[in-house]
Amino acid sequence: MVKNISKIGSLLLLFWGIHIQGQSINIELLKNWKFTNYDYGAAFQENFDDSNWESVTIPHDWAVKQDFNFTHDIQLTMVVQDGETQPRYRTGRTGALPYVGIGWYRTSYNITAEELNEDVQLMFDGAMSNAKVYVNGQYVGERPFGYISFYFNITKFLKPGSNSVAVRLENFNSQSRWYPGAGLYRKVSIIKSNKTRVKTWGTFVTTPVITKKKAQVNLELELVGDGKCTVVNEIIAPDGKQIEQKSREITLESASKLSENFTVSKPKLWDIKTPHLYNIKTTILKSGKVINTYNTPFGIRSIRFELDGFYLNNKRVKFKGVNMHHDFGPVGAAFHKELFVRQMKKMKDMGVNAIRFSHNPPAPEALDICDQMGMLAIDEAFDEWQIGKVLNGYSKQFDLWAKTDLTDMILRDRNHPSIIMWSIGNEIMEQYHHDPNNITGYLNNIVKSLDTTRATTAGFNSANNALESGMASTVDVAGFNYKPGIYHKIREKYPNLKFYASETGGALSTRNSYKFPVVFDTLQNTRGTSVNVHLYPDGQPGNYENTNVPWGYAPFKEFAAQEYSDFVYGEFVWTGYDYLGEPSPYHTAKSRSSYFAPVDMVGLEKDKFYLYQSEWHEDKDVLHVFPHWTLPEMTGKTLPVVCYSTYEHAELFVNGKSYGISKKVKQEVPDFLANNIKKEASGGTSMVQLKAYAMVWEDVAYESGELKVVAYNSKGKPIAETVRYTSGNPHTIKIEPEIDIINKGEVGVYVVSVLDKDGNLCVNYNRNMQMEVNGAAEFLASGNGDPTNVQNLSKPKRKLFNGQAVIYVKGTKAGQVTVRVTSEDFKGENRQLIVN
Ligand code: GAL
Repeated sequence: MVKNISKIGSLLLLFWGIHIQGQSINIELLKNWKFTNYDYGAAFQENFDDSNWESVTIPHDWAVKQDFNFTHDIQLTMVVQDGETQPRYRTGRTGALPYVGIGWYRTSYNITAEELNEDVQLMFDGAMSNAKVYVNGQYVGERPFGYISFYFNITKFLKPGSNSVAVRLENFNSQSRWYPGAGLYRKVSIIKSNKTRVKTWGTFVTTPVITKKKAQVNLELELVGDGKCTVVNEIIAPDGKQIEQKSREITLESASKLSENFTVSKPKLWDIKTPHLYNIKTTILKSGKVINTYNTPFGIRSIRFELDGFYLNNKRVKFKGVNMHHDFGPVGAAFHKELFVRQMKKMKDMGVNAIRFSHNPPAPEALDICDQMGMLAIDEAFDEWQIGKVLNGYSKQFDLWAKTDLTDMILRDRNHPSIIMWSIGNEIMEQYHHDPNNITGYLNNIVKSLDTTRATTAGFNSANNALESGMASTVDVAGFNYKPGIYHKIREKYPNLKFYASETGGALSTRNSYKFPVVFDTLQNTRGTSVNVHLYPDGQPGNYENTNVPWGYAPFKEFAAQEYSDFVYGEFVWTGYDYLGEPSPYHTAKSRSSYFAPVDMVGLEKDKFYLYQSEWHEDKDVLHVFPHWTLPEMTGKTLPVVCYSTYEHAELFVNGKSYGISKKVKQEVPDFLANNIKKEASGGTSMVQLKAYAMVWEDVAYESGELKVVAYNSKGKPIAETVRYTSGNPHTIKIEPEIDIINKGEVGVYVVSVLDKDGNLCVNYNRNMQMEVNGAAEFLASGNGDPTNVQNLSKPKRKLFNGQAVIYVKGTKAGQVTVRVTSEDFKGENRQLIVN
């Protein structure tokens, strides 16, 4: 499976080089910088001596390389959403890494006297945070919001020869609810262009009419500069051929807007499985000479938001979505497109068709990749408005910057066909006050002034407040977080409201760990009387989806609610990947990353992955059984065996002994809706809910050996089987590359597994390994998916977690990469050396 995915990945990566969304072609990356965490007051000065600073390359995250320490950014908060009535200390909420503090970056940029006749813009795709930018000792500008792209025209600050660029960043305590990262963690680029040019982010392509025969394509274009020029716009088809070209002569005063209409016959639609991309290439000529070019990739697709669902190209599509935070686990917040492609491949493999970028704008390349892979996207602006959730969050900046930040997000991103909705906020506290300043309306109008082709949305956790105050109906489509129990009631009371589930789930798990006995049908959460009952001291909650945060619930409940109320547009699971920070409910000095996702923080699948895959993937046969069968402590005891599968019924065998056939049994009306049990919208898995989406054998006597499930077709013929064996002693270390080609500067991923002599994963192997990377790459980071592992992520020594770990490497040149993993437990030929 991994191999197939890699191939798709390589194709996508090849494709990557062709378009850079909405940017002028003459781009230089500012990659090499000097960095310090010390706040030198004079570091902005042109000739400041930075020679003893650290040399770093961008993207860079200054905190992720440091040691974990639970005293970093301890937050004393009362989280109203969690039902808390007293403030309490949270450790690890921002990842237990030292993101707080000041960081200075300096670099130099060479330019010729001739080039100074041009416009030079300095673009940051995101700088965490409170950036202040200086060129040659002069203050250029600032931008507090760490997730937004911004640029300055720096021409007037430059001189021929070498120019110094300095950036000061500052992160505060209690600035975030998750790990924000620290530093210049996304691209920094110089865009050089003629003074007469397409304005940066100055194009907007819409496709108001689409039929099988033709599509109308409208381009709105903003130009800056002066004088007479010729503007040529050509549409390039997905196969690279020119379709149509239009040219006009204009005289620019300083800025002008123009629009151009095209007709594309037999358009190839952008869709989830066929993400065809067109491009408009704008060329500006003066006296016959090309002075500026600008690409605007776009897709031809229609979207509609109806009462019965969301429509893409006139077909109803349910969101099989996941939320994604921006970090890459052991690599931190530094954006590497290979790692985002890896995440998206895994999500596609799970059947995902939509991403909610929680809760801030992503790196622009992430949206390019969504366009290229056929992934729907919600671009989300804010997690706070005027009322904060943490002491130093975005509420501090809202009044001054919200309009600019939201505007820039939309100008930068509005040509991406993947984006279907603009989210103006997540769980904003104004809900609890009925939004007295009508910020919902204010932000909604800003979006509408820039784009009316997509829906506006927001994620509401306090459904009643949002509905009663009118906030939910101010946006085009409402998102509700964790509310499967009331969809039908909302529809009854607000029949014209369109909505989806912007966050779902909340059951906790770590890969390949199980807790027995497994208790179903109780409210196994951490709220109220049951506080801490299921906080296992080792920080490993199991995998049966029966332990969840107070506001959460098992995935089955959401499936059932959405089937019952099919008009709901679908769901966005919290989250697709585990992320740094927010180790809820393990707040106290134990864990530093989250527990919610079907895929752990290093990209390895948990059992839950196969549940979603069995429900969501359209082309895959799934047959996954758990627990793993190496549970010596269970000998002589019974345990439940669960199978997530696309098959409806199957038989279980332990060492050849049948436990009978199990079938999935759907409830016509889900129990929690029929009985209308109070509080049932949260709480643990009920057996009937589990059995609706899984085959279950409740009391299976554990004995080591072979666990086998055989699936049958409707005629009773065996059609598939899966087997798990009790693993023997560790015998071999296997290292598997997940990304085939690693070019210079790119990141590669290797999965390390310890196997017994028959190739079974040693799920109880948790010992240290030493990692070594040579040849054309260097060691970057490693991790193992265990939220309680506090070994430094940037050091090549790692405990395996339940038999596995992941190594991240960075390409340094062309050639072979060798990765070696060693441990005292392995001798001779069993030490593996991977070369690719
Ligand atoms: C939601 C919130 C998310 C995350 C999640 C954890 O309330 O919007 O950002 O905190 O809970 O379950």
